[in-house]
Amino acid sequence: MSHKIALSFEDGVTRFITCGTGETVADAAYRSGINVPFDCRDGACGTCKSHCESGAYDKGDYIEDALTEDEAAEGFVLTCQMRPKSDCVVKIAATSAMCKAGASTFSARLSRLERLSPTTLGFALKVDAGELSFLPGQYANLSLPGTREVRAYSFSSLPHDGEVEFLVRNIPGGRMSSFLAERAKVGDAMSFTAPMGSFYLRPVTRPLLFLAGGTGLAPFLAMLDLLARDGLNVPAHLVYGVTSDADLVLVDKLEAFAARLKGFTFSTVVADAASSHPRKGYVTHHLAPEHLNGGDVDTYLCGPPAMVDAVRHHFQAAGVTPAAFHYEKFSPGAEAKAA
Ligand code: FES
Repeated sequence: MSHKIALSFEDGVTRFITCGTGETVADAAYRSGINVPFDCRDGACGTCKSHCESGAYDKGDYIEDALTEDEAAEGFVLTCQMRPKSDCVVKIAATSAMCKAGASTFSARLSRLERLSPTTLGFALKVDAGELSFLPGQYANLSLPGTREVRAYSFSSLPHDGEVEFLVRNIPGGRMSSFLAERAKVGDAMSFTAPMGSFYLRPVTRPLLFLAGGTGLAPFLAMLDLLARDGLNVPAHLVYGVTSDADLVLVDKLEAFAARLKGFTFSTVVADAASSHPRKGYVTHHLAPEHLNGGDVDTYLCGPPAMVDAVRHHFQAAGVTPAAFHYEKFSPGAEAKAA
């Protein structure tokens, strides 16, 4: 039985390979044209040492000099020896360029385009050919048609029949958002390079706290899509904060996830003092002690830099250190990563 292995490189690029029964990750990578670091091929030199983020595997044979017992217990592996027993995510200690493993470029068609609110657009792209794989939370670099410009947007769904969704803030004067809001039509050709980024859902082993700022909601929709597919057996809470009422979108989608996923709850927060929303202020104003769970919580945050700092301070002030804190900073005004 073959397994899908995500090779995650230091520069944020991820490449997926298929590892056959009994095949080592290094052999499968080379067969796919990816030159992961490699030397003795014998479990002796340690050159291929990498970190397995998730999945089950046989460690293989090696000597202590190449991989210590403590390293193995922490999830380090030798890819020349590692034989996967399930799908795995392996962090390679090299850049994709060093391994000749650049991200793939996909040509696609605009298959849906929707103005979700005066400030936010949703759209979907259907890839023309090729298998699109990514980890939920990752992003794509979209080319602005007719130009050499690219903008980075998180996937807001898993791929379904080659179609993926995105969420974009409609920024006045923003090149990509103006194109989408004013000129784009369903059927238009677009292209993107993916998958990118190290912000993705890790194996779920403890309660989850998701914190989204504005269109930073997008990666969480992809994560929830995965959890809805695979099941959720821990509590997960999302706090979705926006600036104004108009920024609050896809709440019906979150309600559908809450109805389908036992253990998933969410709340929305609006910062605008003039809003009549029942919860006002910032995300940190609406974090209850049970959401922090005494630190036994994996926290994921996607939002502006100030939000990352505010949440860090909130944890410190509460005297709590989350077991894991993964975040993606973005600046909506710059249409930057993960917007
Ligand atoms: Fe030497 Fe793997 S290549 S230990």
